[in-house]
Amino acid sequence: MDKTSSYLPFTRPTIDDETIEGVVQVLRSGWLATGPQVKNFEDMLADYLSNDLSDNLSNQEIKKKRIIKSFTSATAGLEIALQICGIGEGDEVITSALSFAATSNVIMRVGAKPIFVDVDLDTRNIKLEDIPKVITKKTKAIMPVHFAGLAVDMDKLYSYAREYNLRVIEDAAHAIGSSWRGKKIGSFGDLVVFSFHPNKNMTTIEGGAISLASDCVDEAKKVELHRWHGLTKDTQNNTDVVLAGGKSNLSDVAARVGIGQLKRLDEFNKKRRELVAVYYELLCKNSLLNNNVCLPAYPKETDGGMEGHSFHMFAPLICFDKLKISRQQFISDMQKKGIGVGIHYPAIHLFELYRKLGYREGAFANAERIGNTTVTLPLFPAMQRADVERVCETMNELFDGYSGRV
Ligand SMILES: Cc1ncc(COP(=O)(O)O)c(C=O)c1O
Repeated sequence: MDKTSSYLPFTRPTIDDETIEGVVQVLRSGWLATGPQVKNFEDMLADYLSNDLSDNLSNQEIKKKRIIKSFTSATAGLEIALQICGIGEGDEVITSALSFAATSNVIMRVGAKPIFVDVDLDTRNIKLEDIPKVITKKTKAIMPVHFAGLAVDMDKLYSYAREYNLRVIEDAAHAIGSSWRGKKIGSFGDLVVFSFHPNKNMTTIEGGAISLASDCVDEAKKVELHRWHGLTKDTQNNTDVVLAGGKSNLSDVAARVGIGQLKRLDEFNKKRRELVAVYYELLCKNSLLNNNVCLPAYPKETDGGMEGHSFHMFAPLICFDKLKISRQQFISDMQKKGIGVGIHYPAIHLFELYRKLGYREGAFANAERIGNTTVTLPLFPAMQRADVERVCETMNELFDGYSGRV
């Protein structure tokens, strides 16, 4: 088959026939909104997070089942996480300058102020060592992002949280199936929020979930109130409304998709790691590519190595200045060759909303450099080695043309 004949998007979900059949059954069942499938999905997720990868766990805490509550999106989950921590007007939340806008938008939505911190150029994760510099009396929480599925240093993160008495809301939108030193993200820690948007490592079409510690029963109840109108029912079925909750409960149809996906998550993530290994291999061995591409950090062996990385995406930086080409031109040239390329993400603090808070160019050099030069190359479990070869060969061909220009 002609390698260039089919379009290769940068991401595509894999939904198998068993899942499709399962969804059809739910559709025929007469119960489509939140019901048994949601309960089943949340239980499965709690089991998944409790069955840790590591056999040599010393920490018994992570053996206890986490409480899982699902939502229609991670955005809803992050906002509710802030609400149950009582964060609002006048409060500050420390977060990464490089993420999807949802991360900081939710802080604004509850009336608090996002305090951005730069990221490390290689890992793309928040520079944890910069956090103490921006802590004030108003700081209530840290909201780090496990960028592209690479876990932040959890020891360091939680030692700051303890030292400064802060809540942690982990934006784990990219990190379902990731782990840190053998412990799954979401199997420990404070409040951990996943996304199941179709471009994530597993999907519920739209959806998300929060993981809370097993003893946070009261906070879990608050989560339920926030995601469903603040409604309570007593044993006599009398209803009351105790807070102005929103509506972000997952449907049974969506949950059934998630059940099929969760069963295959580890397989999907393994395939992602294999494909990324091919990217590293090909991009490193070709000198034209290697000289013009800055690869994201390989996970440190001491932090769990490749096994701990779920590679939600593979996003190198490209030396567009050296190649004398704009990113848009490169994306459009790749598109003409049938290859989709994404941008994840522009630095958040330079969006209009955040400029209004006083943020400007030069504030976070790494986030800005990444924001200006990052490209997300195709990566999804149904890809084959030949697809990665095609992407690298096409880049080589294009770079060759760019560098030959005056
Ligand atoms: C880092 C990050 N946080 C939050 C979100 C929001 O996720 P959702 O689309 O499920 O609301 C996304 C979505 O892409 C994301 O990438």
